[in-house]
Amino acid sequence: MRLLSRRMMGVIQITSKIKLFVLASIFVFTYSKHEEYAGWKSYYINTSTVEQVKKLNAIRTKLGLDFLSPAHVKREALVLAKPEQQEEFKNNLDHLGIKYRIHVDDIKSALDHDDEKKKNRTKAIARDSGDKMSYDDYQHLETIDAYMEYIAKEYPKTTTLVTAAQTFEGLPIRYMQISTTNFKDNSKPVIFIEGGMHAREWISPPTVTWVIKKLTEDVTEPDLLNYFDWILMPIANPDGYNFTFFGRRLWRKNRSMNFPNDNFCPGVDGNRNFNIAWNTVGTEEDPCSGIYAGNGPFSEIETQVVRNIIMEHISRIALYLSMHSFGSLILHPWSHNLTLSYNYDNLAKVGHAIANAFFEHGPDIFPPFIVGSTSELLYLCSGSSTDYGHHIGVPLAYTIELPGIAPNDDYTGFDMDPQYIKAVCESTWAGIVVGARKAKVLFRKGT
Ligand SMILES: *[C@@H]1O[C@H](CO)[C@@H](O)[C@H](O)[C@H]1NC(C)=O
Ligand SMILES: *[C@@H]1O[C@H](CO)[C@@H](O)[C@H](O)[C@H]1NC(C)=O
Ligand SMILES: *[C@@H]1O[C@H](CO)[C@@H](O)[C@H](O)[C@H]1NC(C)=O
Ligand SMILES: *[C@@H]1O[C@H](CO)[C@@H](O)[C@H](O)[C@H]1NC(C)=O
Ligand SMILES: *[C@@H]1O[C@H](CO)[C@@H](O)[C@H](O)[C@H]1NC(C)=O
Ligand SMILES: [Zn+2]
Repeated sequence: MRLLSRRMMGVIQITSKIKLFVLASIFVFTYSKHEEYAGWKSYYINTSTVEQVKKLNAIRTKLGLDFLSPAHVKREALVLAKPEQQEEFKNNLDHLGIKYRIHVDDIKSALDHDDEKKKNRTKAIARDSGDKMSYDDYQHLETIDAYMEYIAKEYPKTTTLVTAAQTFEGLPIRYMQISTTNFKDNSKPVIFIEGGMHAREWISPPTVTWVIKKLTEDVTEPDLLNYFDWILMPIANPDGYNFTFFGRRLWRKNRSMNFPNDNFCPGVDGNRNFNIAWNTVGTEEDPCSGIYAGNGPFSEIETQVVRNIIMEHISRIALYLSMHSFGSLILHPWSHNLTLSYNYDNLAKVGHAIANAFFEHGPDIFPPFIVGSTSELLYLCSGSSTDYGHHIGVPLAYTIELPGIAPNDDYTGFDMDPQYIKAVCESTWAGIVVGARKAKVLFRKGT
């Protein structure tokens, strides 16, 4: 008895030591959270002429700045600047007569504030349960995974959950196939929607899980469920996505290391890594840059998975959407040069139809969507997923920059207020419905 109790005491002591250690680590972790953003600021930049957009993009390249939202004549850009970049950045802007205003004066505090607000949102959020998804807050990787598992189990006749590969850090890259004919009817067109390639763009994955919901739990457009085969990948970059929840909130790339040359700067920008004019324009050779294109086309498992899906179904993909944020933009090929695409008229027509549906169904606080090719609207960049898809034969391919932090919103945090998540998902679905119906007509005509 005595011996046993002593042993138990020992166990209890060890356990509490571990607990103490864990507590201490949690304390250190929480305390030092977002420390890497101390002194960082973000700026709204008003570029109201094409000339100013060009100049701002040149400053971006020169100083290696990180853009949260791109510059456009009708939209303010949102730019992150590290402490050591700020003086030169402001000098450059002043010199060029470009107007700017502070968005967040102290990013570390804003992120801490966001965390506190997140903790305060105690509304029953189905986090980490295998239950249906809540759209009251941004979702952890585990929650989205659990949701897809739940759907696959509940709707086995129409859904299949595919694990395509393991990431650098060992996480599964997964997607759902939804089909009333089990993907066996090769005459059916395919719609492919992927999100979360850029880790920090938290509004992207929920717009994709919402599509899964609209094709399983809450079918209001049965014609679209029947007519198309759907491929839905909410998180193309799970390592990076998880890292933005538990590591650096503003991480954009994946988490890979390209030894030996970038052991201090992990990660590749997935949306610069596709094999289309790879690393020729709008990318950086520096692995520490947020737009590092990788050490070769398709060096990343995440982009290989997306490529493989496109290749496997290339003859029947009618519509491909890549979900990003933010800027309320519908961008189509080309990104890597200024030539008009072979399908420019249809890309523009369908893009405008999607934009109108988005706007009509979206919250008033967000601006209308602007439609055009990336190269004409924003800048040139090579290696994007939509250029790649379009180049190898996807007739309609779009990068959607979803709505973001609403301008003049009194929300003081850094992320888009979660109260808008659901509305963004609903309006995105309205856009997808219109896009799918247009794609159907064009696919029939064989264009
Ligand atoms: C940018 O500046 C222009 C010209 O001064 C002004 O008309 C416009 O409202 C500004 N845009 C934004 C988004 O603040
Ligand atoms: C979170 O809740 C606490 C306690 O109610 C409150 O004092 C604090 O201001 C709240 N923080 C935010 C950021 O809303
Ligand atoms: C996400 O990252 C956290 C912290 O590093 C880790 O504990 C957790 O297991 C990760 N989640 C997954 C699904 O790997
Ligand atoms: C990042 O890139 C590496 C290759 O350099 C790749 O192996 C890894 O899977 C990628 N991870 C993510 C999350 O993008
Ligand atoms: C632009 O890119 C497309 C697709 O890669 C190509 O067909 C076209 O020839 C390119 N234009 C120029 C001027 O290089
Ligand atoms: Zn993005």
